[in-house]
Amino acid sequence: MSISHKLFGTLPDGRGVDVYTLRNASGVKVRILTYGGAIQQLYIPDRKGCFCDVLGGYDCLDSYVRGDGYQGALIGRVGNRIAKGTFTLDGKEYRMFINNGPNHLHGGEFGFNAKIFDVVATEDTDTPSLSLRYVSPDGEEQYPGTLTVTVTYTLTAENGLRIRYVATTDKKTILNLTNHSYFNLAGYATGSVLDHELYLDADTYLPTDTSLIPTGELRPVANTPFDFTVAKPIGQDIEADNADLTIAGGYDHCFNFRGGASHEPVLRATLYHRESGRKMDVYTNQPCVQVYTGNFLTNEEFPFKGNFAQRPRSFVCLETQHMPDSINHENFTDCTLSPGEVYDYTTEYRFSVE
Ligand code: BGC
Repeated sequence: MSISHKLFGTLPDGRGVDVYTLRNASGVKVRILTYGGAIQQLYIPDRKGCFCDVLGGYDCLDSYVRGDGYQGALIGRVGNRIAKGTFTLDGKEYRMFINNGPNHLHGGEFGFNAKIFDVVATEDTDTPSLSLRYVSPDGEEQYPGTLTVTVTYTLTAENGLRIRYVATTDKKTILNLTNHSYFNLAGYATGSVLDHELYLDADTYLPTDTSLIPTGELRPVANTPFDFTVAKPIGQDIEADNADLTIAGGYDHCFNFRGGASHEPVLRATLYHRESGRKMDVYTNQPCVQVYTGNFLTNEEFPFKGNFAQRPRSFVCLETQHMPDSINHENFTDCTLSPGEVYDYTTEYRFSVE
């Protein structure tokens, strides 16, 4: 229905960061920053028609710059971890920035979450949209190839927030883009997310070592706490006596969708908050989702919007993507991109009440 923008803040080097507000006819409102393409607010209705903001995030730019947790941000070039920050592509070894224990996480020292995106198009229609572009130079964060990434956010008339990622490269490279929004459908300032019911169309998950690098095994979810093929509360089994949960302090695992990547986006996950009636269906053509229950949300220096304290397990991220560290595992999904190919993935978070 409408799109508008204004200045959100100014970086120490003087560059301005804008916030774009998209609204649809039902009153759903989303705010997106040009810094990291971060989704800063998302207002959706409950069963009674009361709107609240269901996303983690900050009030000011400084917290997006200095805070951790990648709140709402676009993640690139490679989401999740690369073991010991090392991989080999076409015989050449690459050594990446180490920023998470012994590993490389979410694109390195200055990933896409820390870049200002150019606004290349806006549409002020019934389905308002915002297209952001970032051209990542050859060798940025050691990744090969000049990578041109266009991310389009669309607010649909059916209360869906659609994110389409399109990218091309001029040299063979690796790529795994996602969005790092933290959801709590009761409202961002309410507390635990453990009462939310989760359904995942995933029959295997990736166990990890103690530094959260996948071991290489695709383990069946059947008869484990990782079975969400029938919806269940996130908290139901989170304290189970299970080595994989203990290592991560909760869920922080890649779940592999049945049949892998799809041509068109299909329903792969549902998050439901029974008390408010808010429901989020996740449609994607990606092969996997990283389910992260915010186990590391503890940073007291950077409270969330409205000065709400960070608390572990108060949000869940459903990061649709390829398998973490896939470049180092022959049996994992292929995350390489060559010149002439077009990386094109779409994920839609569609909201309703039940
Ligand atoms: C990872 C977590 C990590 C978090 C950082 C998630 O995608 O799976 O292990 O701590 O991002 O915010």
